Amino acid sequence: MITTTGLTKVYRSRGREVTALDGVDLHVREGEVYGVIGQSGAGKSSLIRCVNLLERPTSGTVTVAGQDLTALAGRGPRAGKELRQARSRIGMVFQHFNLLSSRTVQDNVELPLEILGKSGKERSRKALELLDLVGLADKAKAYPAQLSGGQKQRVGIARALAGDPKVLLSDEATSALDPETTRSILQLLRDLNRQLGLTVLLITHEMDVVKSICDSAALMENGRIVESGTVSELLATPGSQLASALFPVAGEATGDDRTVVDVTFHGEAATQPVISQLSRTYNIDISILGAAIDTVGGLQVGRMRIELPGRYEDNVVPIGFLREQGLQIDVVGQEPVLLVEGAK
Ligand SMILES: Nc1ncnc2c1ncn2[C@@H]1O[C@H](COP(=O)(O)OP(=O)(O)OP(=O)(O)O)[C@@H](O)[C@H]1O
Ligand SMILES: [Mg+2]
Repeated sequence: MITTTGLTKVYRSRGREVTALDGVDLHVREGEVYGVIGQSGAGKSSLIRCVNLLERPTSGTVTVAGQDLTALAGRGPRAGKELRQARSRIGMVFQHFNLLSSRTVQDNVELPLEILGKSGKERSRKALELLDLVGLADKAKAYPAQLSGGQKQRVGIARALAGDPKVLLSDEATSALDPETTRSILQLLRDLNRQLGLTVLLITHEMDVVKSICDSAALMENGRIVESGTVSELLATPGSQLASALFPVAGEATGDDRTVVDVTFHGEAATQPVISQLSRTYNIDISILGAAIDTVGGLQVGRMRIELPGRYEDNVVPIGFLREQGLQIDVVGQEPVLLVEGAK
């Protein structure tokens, strides 16, 4: 649904150049919720603004629903007709809602329909239908100042859906909201994704957001995507930073001459019997430093951090035993072993 190839954005201001995007290849499949995470300044907003051509990329291409947007003329407010039309098929939700305070809720939602030249009757019907969809049917005549943050964001989402987009872009839509409101807005995005088959590309710096609603995720650093994949692919990638951020296990090694191993299992598989078998077979004392079970991207995942006596070299055989049991093994402090083809 969204593909970027070699996307580069260089800002030039006051004789200084900042490379915000440095060759980004992004692939978002139809119907998925795709999260982009990264630290401040990583290039997340630049990416989303280039995807809908609010910013013109310095080089590279952006294709949305099969249409090469970079081939269409104009940018920003000077976009040509074709680009404006293509963009009306891409909804955008902002952190600070960007509602017009002098217009009612309904008139805010109607705004994109006015730009598309729809009749008054059609606009009103569509706006009321969308306000109902986001649970704000009773607020049509209210003004933004009379709404809570969560309600304002629901208006922002209704407005973003006015042009019947296939794609919804969201730049930190929940970062101005409290945790409970965040959850309800994320749930709304998830519901819209399922009900309307809407593809959602969202930017966040909160791992919990990715954990609760994303099917896939990418990690950005310095204008590049350094890791990406479906949540289950990421969890199965040894050494994945996203996987360990999505699913951290605590526990420090208790001393030198110790090997610390993270054991990850999916679904119903249990590690406990395997760990006792390991201990008996090799006659070693295994300490459990930490363990957790969680639901990530709708999958149940368990992770256990264990400690074996001796250095890594002394534990190659027991570690091999664990791998043979089909468990995913990450030896802390060792280069990851590639188990997934194509994984980094
Ligand atoms: N209009 C601009 N002119 C000049 N530099 C810019 C402009 N917009 C962004 N930048 C720079 O590009 C880099 C990436 O910025 P961007 O806003 O994409 O980051 P971000 O990942 O969204 O960060 P945040 O999490 O803080 O929102 C930063 O170094 C930023 O200072
Ligand atoms: Mg940003």
